[in-house]
Amino acid sequence: MKRSQPCKNQDTQTARKPGRRKRLRIAIDGPAGAGKSTVARRVADILGYIYLDTGAMYRALAVLALDRNISFDDPQALGEMASSVRIDVSEDDGVFRVWIDGEEFTHRLRTPETDRAVKLISMAQPVRRVLVEIQRELARRGGVVMEGRDITSVVIPDAEVKVFLTADVTERARRRWVELRNKGIDMSFDEVLAELQARDAKDHERGWGKLVKVEGAVLIDSTHLSIDEVCCIIIGLCEAKQRCSTS
Ligand code: DC
Repeated sequence: MKRSQPCKNQDTQTARKPGRRKRLRIAIDGPAGAGKSTVARRVADILGYIYLDTGAMYRALAVLALDRNISFDDPQALGEMASSVRIDVSEDDGVFRVWIDGEEFTHRLRTPETDRAVKLISMAQPVRRVLVEIQRELARRGGVVMEGRDITSVVIPDAEVKVFLTADVTERARRRWVELRNKGIDMSFDEVLAELQARDAKDHERGWGKLVKVEGAVLIDSTHLSIDEVCCIIIGLCEAKQRCSTS
C-alpha cells in the first residue's frame, strides 16, 4: 500500500470526551494480503485498543501439531490437542506474541512449513471451536481490533464496527512480492500470485468459518488506497458509531 499523511480524526468531538466513549469491538475480515494486520495494528494503536491477530493463533496450533506429529487428517485429534493446552497472547511494540502452555511460539509462526500446516489445521472444525471461544472471551470487554477470516461472521457478529477489507488479487500479490523481495526472499511474481490464489480458494472452501462478507460489514477495497486512508475510514466508522450510541 502507498503511504499518505496520517488522518486527523482523533481531534473530533468524540475523541475529546474519552470518559463517555464506549470501548468498541472492531472486527476486520478479508483475504490474505489485503493489509488487515497493518491496518488493524495501526487502528488499535491510534485508539489505544488491543490488537488481536487470530491467524497467529491458528499458526501457533499448527506449529504445535507439527511438533507433536499429529496428523492433519485427524480433526478430532487436532481438536483434543487445542482444547488441552493453554493459549496466551499479548502485543509488544507492534509484535503480536503467542504462547502455548508457557512456551513462546511467536518466532515460529511464519515459516513455509507453518504456511502449509495452518491451511490444514484451519479446516478442522474442532480446532476452530476452541479458538473461537478463546477469541470471544478476549473480545468480551471491548477495546479490541480483531482481524482474521471469520471475525465478523462467527467470532463477534455483533461487533460495533465490522469491516471487510479486500483488494484486487493482482495488487495483493504485488504487495506480497515487494514485501518478500525486501526480506531477501526470491520468488517470481507469478509464484506469489499463484500462492495467493490458492490461499483464497482455501479460505472460501472451508465449510465452517469460511471467508464471507456479512451483511452489515463495510466493504473497503484498498486496491487504490494507502494504509492511512484505510485507517481513516475505519476510525471514521468508529466515531460515527460513538456519536450514534452516545446521543
Ligand atoms: O491471516 P494469516 O495468513 O496469518 O492466517 C493464517 C491461516 O489461518 C490462513 O490459512 C487462514 C486461517 N485463519 C482462519 O481460518 N481464521 C481466522 N480467523 C484467521 C486465520
